[in-house]
Amino acid sequence: MDLRTSFLSRIAGQLPDDARDSLPPTYFYDLDIAAENVDRLRAGLPPQIEVAYSLKANCEPDFVAGLMARRTDLVVDVCSLFELELVLELGVAPSNIVFTGPGKTAAELRRAVRAGVTLIVCESIEELRLLDALAAERGQPAQCLLRINPASTAAGLERPFSGVRSHFGIDLDELQVEVGAIRAMGHVRVCGLHFYVGSRNLDAADIARSFHAFREIFQTVNGWFEGALDTLDLGGGFGVPYYDWEAPLDLTLLRAELASLDLSPFRRVLVESGRFIAASSAVYLCRVLYTKQRGGRDIAVLDGGLCSFYLLSDHAAMSQDKPNRNFLMAVLGKSAAPGQDRPWDLYGNAPTGSDVVGRSVPLPALAPGDLLAVFNAGAYGRMTSLSQFLGRGLADAVLLPSAAQAASSERST
Ligand SMILES: Cc1ncc(COP(=O)(O)O)c(C=O)c1O
Repeated sequence: MDLRTSFLSRIAGQLPDDARDSLPPTYFYDLDIAAENVDRLRAGLPPQIEVAYSLKANCEPDFVAGLMARRTDLVVDVCSLFELELVLELGVAPSNIVFTGPGKTAAELRRAVRAGVTLIVCESIEELRLLDALAAERGQPAQCLLRINPASTAAGLERPFSGVRSHFGIDLDELQVEVGAIRAMGHVRVCGLHFYVGSRNLDAADIARSFHAFREIFQTVNGWFEGALDTLDLGGGFGVPYYDWEAPLDLTLLRAELASLDLSPFRRVLVESGRFIAASSAVYLCRVLYTKQRGGRDIAVLDGGLCSFYLLSDHAAMSQDKPNRNFLMAVLGKSAAPGQDRPWDLYGNAPTGSDVVGRSVPLPALAPGDLLAVFNAGAYGRMTSLSQFLGRGLADAVLLPSAAQAASSERST
């Protein structure tokens, strides 16, 4: 049985027949998959590189707690007070917390200083000055990384986070002018650099090329700081294949391309990843409410869509131009004979033209009550959706029992 089929049969096993008719849009998580994804990513990187889980991809408390329990040596990347408090409560060491984001508030920075977070990422000189002032106010020295905005970006990115049109990070020429003032700051010590040029990169050679470029930039900037820097956060952007025409990231190639990256001078080298770790660990289920035909096309209206899975609609709505941007989908407990799938246009239940769930998705004949399953739903899903739109609220979440738990409960019945 392939992974997707076995995921669906485990979900079906959790759903009593009478629950199927009343199930709200729901995310089903398998935390073992997320934990295995951490190992898969590590295998594609030089062993010295530490992996940070980016909570922005999924900050669901049960998800994060389950992942951290399975991978106790994970570093975390947080981006808000909510995420910071969550990981502190879970007992993550402050030295293993990277605090990123271009718009941290004074309250968030103050909390990070108080907790002793050593990898606060400053994205502007002003933020660095504020951090210095807050550390002075508390009488406690702070430590940080500076996020660099490299002029060029990785080639394989649809929505780059760097270059002249980006609001992220600090430009190198600005940094060079400010180095003297930064070094004179009395309460904050810059210990390294941070980079992140964008998400969803599936091109291993491209990722490796940008990591090599960051290493070069580090060399230059460390010279300006007279060798005082010892930490390098390379970011990441490790993608997952959402569409049937995308190939997975080649981690063997990534490892080979990074073999020549000289990491010996560093005390710590990190990457950050949310999507790669979380995406494949969840399946999203929503229900077919109505079907109709329009202009010879089959249409289904669902009780899900952008209110409970914004990213899905964000992608599918772009499918008007080929190639398609449909996530991989199936219908729970229903399949067509080979070659008998029909192209369905799928819409969510928000009254806006952008609530597209899929265009021309090959599926068996749909009927009201069918449960549509969407794969790769674990990142930027439940917690990243428009749950206040129409007041529909968050989707439900179910943690599937691990294979070991399922086996032991079978034995005891
Ligand atoms: C600074 C930073 N780190 C990490 C991430 C996580 O990206 P992904 O979930 O694609 O791995 C993002 C995403 O926007 C980011 O901006």
